[in-house]
Amino acid sequence: MTSAVRVCSVEDVPAGEARRFAVDGRLVAVVNLGDEGFRAVDAICSHEHYYLDEGEVDVDLETIECPKHGSTFDLDTGAARTLPAITPVDVFPVTVTDDDVLIEV
Ligand code: FES
Repeated sequence: MTSAVRVCSVEDVPAGEARRFAVDGRLVAVVNLGDEGFRAVDAICSHEHYYLDEGEVDVDLETIECPKHGSTFDLDTGAARTLPAITPVDVFPVTVTDDDVLIEV
């Protein structure tokens, strides 16, 4: 069963950036795509253990780039778009209520 959990305030994640939060025992990267809203993905790269939230967000392509080896991940599906990563990362449905960012876990 899934439930919506508050992760942060909308003000905690500037537009075009990502921040890492601990949610229910896992690390989640919340990404602010500006007019396109918020996304949430597993904060740990599927290639090696590295933090995706420290990578570059592409607001137009809706991707985040792992800073370690440069794989990009689709923020809507979690799919790895570029090598070396081939395994997707988990994505979490996001809702924004008032100023709160909530995800389904
Ligand atoms: S650790 Fe992310 S691409 Fe290698």
